[in-house]
Amino acid sequence: MKKIQISPSILSADFSRLGEEIKKLEEAGADMIHMDVMDGHYVPNLTIGPPVIKSLRKHTHLKFDVHLMIAPVHNFIDSYANAGADIITIHPEATENLQDSIKKIKDLNKQVGLSLNPETNIQIIEKFLEKIDLILIMSVNPGFGGQKFMPEVLDKVKRLKEIRDTRGLSYDIEIDGGINFENSKIAIEAGANILVSGTTIFKSNNGDIKKNIDLLRST
Ligand code: DX5
Ligand code: ZN
Repeated sequence: MKKIQISPSILSADFSRLGEEIKKLEEAGADMIHMDVMDGHYVPNLTIGPPVIKSLRKHTHLKFDVHLMIAPVHNFIDSYANAGADIITIHPEATENLQDSIKKIKDLNKQVGLSLNPETNIQIIEKFLEKIDLILIMSVNPGFGGQKFMPEVLDKVKRLKEIRDTRGLSYDIEIDGGINFENSKIAIEAGANILVSGTTIFKSNNGDIKKNIDLLRST
């Protein structure tokens, strides 16, 4: 049974004080920091780039769980690796050669994640499952925080857990989008072992980050 980890998304943080916010997340017991990178092309929103990640790197030793919502993504991988990403997660549709992009991330000694949008089937990544460290199941359409959880994606979580267990693989299953105190338990029961949350962690219980992280982990 994999340990349940919480990866708060800084998408809901105060962008004018990101360094302090990152420190608060570490003190509150976050296991890693989820950084939603959006290019305004693959998704209709624009967030942070390598200079911001580089400047945040010195504020914490926590793993940077970097979710690249960029297309085409291949030529940007180096700059996020050099900025301090520890996990680099890409969308399979965002690269012309997924094998090459996975190899590039591994050659940079970073952990490889692949992200499946709600309408993307597991088949698109099935032949790469031995090579990757993490699968990020989107439970919203990528682009914005604060959206409603899409429970139908839990079938993919269950299937990926089945495949991992029967084939003796070891990838983590991370779920991202609309995770709150009501649905975190069913996401964990389905097989997710890393929960991404932005709105629930930063906005619930008058912004009591430690309480919200503890509640998500324990539900
Ligand atoms: C969507 C983002 C969000 C974010 C979490 O592209 O990936 O899912 O991380 O946002 P909340 O927790 O506010 O739904
Ligand atoms: Zn994300």
